[in-house]
Amino acid sequence: MAKILIACEYSGRVRDAFRAHDHNAWSCDLLPTEVPGPHYQGDVMDIINDGWDLMIAHPPCTHLAVSGARWFKDKLAEQQDALDFVRMLLDAPIPCIALENPISIISSRIRKPDQIIQPWQFGHGETKATCLWLKNLPLLKPSNIVEGREAKVHRMPPGPDRWKDRSRTYEGIARAMAAQWS
Ligand SMILES: C[S@@+](CC[C@H](N)C(=O)[O-])C[C@H]1O[C@@H](n2cnc3c(N)ncnc32)[C@H](O)[C@@H]1O
Repeated sequence: MAKILIACEYSGRVRDAFRAHDHNAWSCDLLPTEVPGPHYQGDVMDIINDGWDLMIAHPPCTHLAVSGARWFKDKLAEQQDALDFVRMLLDAPIPCIALENPISIISSRIRKPDQIIQPWQFGHGETKATCLWLKNLPLLKPSNIVEGREAKVHRMPPGPDRWKDRSRTYEGIARAMAAQWS
């Protein structure tokens, strides 16, 4: 049974996918967990040195995603902080690490991702390019390639919860991570 940290996760999806494989998996976020389960509500830096075997991290992309490029010049300080946070996660003293983000300036400012996956490779008929930066983990193999290629996230209505609805990890990707990286 491995000790697994899912950093920056309020949905509990990756945590619960690993728990289904009998691992001691915890989520951590500044927000409470949406689904009851082992969760540290607070700064991931408080617990990052607690002897984890594997960490999967989903840091905020607000100041990093290339889709927000037209605002970049107004938020250089926030961008620097966001990049520093990503660097701290990637440099954490944990043997196996996966860090996930959309197409972002992490590629030009830190390093290129090891792979880019799509929800349609994991059972969801949607497009959302998701980059993975990996340490000591194999590339994630598509688990269920399906036909649909809809960009559903762009059609979500505006509202206070829109960012949350867009940010939850797809269940199929969470299940593939747990099946292949357990
Ligand atoms: C893009 S969302 C990721 C959501 C995730 N995919 C899920 O399914 O729950 C990024 C999350 O990082 C959290 N976060 C930001 N800074 C953090 C920190 N220092 N420690 C822990 N969580 C943090 C935010 O609260 C936000 O929920």
